[in-house]
Amino acid sequence: MSAVVRHAVSLLLIVAAVACGSDSQQTTAPDTGQQPIQPATDTTSLRTLASGKGRLIGSAVDRGFRYSGSDGVTFKTMLAHEFSVLTPENDMKHERIHPGRDVYRFEPADSLVTFAEANGMKVRGHTLIWHQQLATWLTSGTWTADQARALLVDHVTNVVSHYRGHVLEWDVVNEALGDNGALRPGFWFDHIGRDYVELAFRTARAADPSVGLFYNDYNIEGINAKSDSLYALVRDFQARGVPIDGIGLESHFQLGGIPSTLGSNIARFAALGLKVHITELDIRMPLPSTTAQLQTQAQNYRDVVSTCLGFPACDVVVMWGFTDKESWITNAFPGWGAALVFDAAYQPKPAYTSLHDLLK
Ligand code: XIL
Repeated sequence: MSAVVRHAVSLLLIVAAVACGSDSQQTTAPDTGQQPIQPATDTTSLRTLASGKGRLIGSAVDRGFRYSGSDGVTFKTMLAHEFSVLTPENDMKHERIHPGRDVYRFEPADSLVTFAEANGMKVRGHTLIWHQQLATWLTSGTWTADQARALLVDHVTNVVSHYRGHVLEWDVVNEALGDNGALRPGFWFDHIGRDYVELAFRTARAADPSVGLFYNDYNIEGINAKSDSLYALVRDFQARGVPIDGIGLESHFQLGGIPSTLGSNIARFAALGLKVHITELDIRMPLPSTTAQLQTQAQNYRDVVSTCLGFPACDVVVMWGFTDKESWITNAFPGWGAALVFDAAYQPKPAYTSLHDLLK
């Protein structure tokens, strides 16, 4: 039996125990804190360690292909063992969940939610209103502003209502701002104007009075024109009673590219009473990766999560996947990769060890 399979089998026993309702923490070896960390044999999970610090740690999952094939068992077993949050990577996006004007297709995302609940994981709902991955029936249609508003309300109401009680928080609006801080063009902005953001948040709140409502974006991790603009938007919302509970810092970083103002930025949003969650963390490098790069990556992961740990508001950290075998970076940034904490053979990388160490 290979080391990977052996690791997967031992984890599978733990997952089976979780599914049977026992406590995963009781199934792992006692942690004396005296030994150097050896993740291949120390199966104390990231989620168990994070939970000791009052945090949730998660991964995005794209059910479409990541669950299929012979890797499925290893993938699911490690997912449930290591993580306490699951974000559907694509299955809740408009084009997948709302493929026809009167057609909602909830089954793929439902199966992720079922998996999460069976394994004691929370779900981040991702995402309700975005300018990308919109169904063609929507983008190819001709709509008045009133019709577009009604379509937004219909979509948000139906999806949020369907998952009421099953989702920790929603990325209500995703990536609405450009790097200059202005609202970017796109279907919703072009048809409705700037009020679409507020309409989405008010509609989500009406559909679920208790779910967390988040604004999620990239390049808002540090202090800059874009995060300044979001800060002003949040203050305006709060002044006018528009509901918002948190912001999601996507955190798709390049190696060595962690903003020095990450901590001060988290601090200013937290001071507004918001949660500040790390929602899509990955740290990519030019391929092929070198040992030195993997060490820098480990330090970068550690810096991000340790900065987050400095703030009670930053109590959720989600990575955009967990194995380099399955990552959006391959397609989105050709020539780059190795962005996650397990390698393509599901072996823990230095970045995993550094997080394990930090959370211990
Ligand atoms: C990405 C997915 O990972 C890809 O599989 C898909 O093809 C495109 O979208 N910001 C977001 C995520 O908010 O929804 C994006 O996910 C990555 C960038």
